[in-house]
Amino acid sequence: MSSSHPPILASWLAAVLETPGLTALRDPDEARRVLLDDSLKGLESVRGLAGPIVDVGSGGGAPGIPLAASLPEREVTLLEANGRKCEFLRRWITELPNLRVVHGRAEEQEPERYGVAVAKALAHPPTAAEWCLPLVGEGGAVVLWVGPTAEPGPVAAAAGKLNAELAESPPGFFVLRKLGPTPPGFPRRPGMAKKRPLA
Ligand SMILES: C[S@@+](CC[C@H](N)C(=O)[O-])C[C@H]1O[C@@H](n2cnc3c(N)ncnc32)[C@H](O)[C@@H]1O
Repeated sequence: MSSSHPPILASWLAAVLETPGLTALRDPDEARRVLLDDSLKGLESVRGLAGPIVDVGSGGGAPGIPLAASLPEREVTLLEANGRKCEFLRRWITELPNLRVVHGRAEEQEPERYGVAVAKALAHPPTAAEWCLPLVGEGGAVVLWVGPTAEPGPVAAAAGKLNAELAESPPGFFVLRKLGPTPPGFPRRPGMAKKRPLA
């Protein structure tokens, strides 16, 4: 573990590996690369975007916990649909006072509460965009961790239907800018974004 990382991240990573049901990864080096190093690749993009942050489908806490530890002045909410994963996530609130945990689905949250929504390995980019964009207000942004070969066309088309656009993005990321309020009809009811993707 690099000494430049906040020390709590080593304890968190070890706990993710030890706790059944949080990750299929078993090799500690691979887990550090996927859960910690990859999470922090988005740090500078998120730092430059204003407002409270929500990590949608946080799972064991990536990227939300590395972001919360690195940006202690920012409120970071971990939004997770699975109750057992939320129990694990709540263990870190004492050490990271800027952290909140919300148990629920993205489609059922208060709209436009956040400035930035982030998601890593949540769903195909158009579905992830549809879940994340209603959570941020006008002028806000969504940062999606995607593979290096992800196609920009479908996510740009989905963003357009949600009053947003695909902005210039670092490799491995799609940054979406919310240009206006969430259009009527969104969020669609749970399940629809996956069953009938916008693009
Ligand atoms: C593959 S895991 C990824 C976890 C973590 N982001 C990571 O990169 O390790 C996806 C997580 O998203 C959660 N999830 C799926 N759909 C969701 C929704 N609509 N709202 C909130 N959480 C959701 C699942 O319960 C699961 O924990």
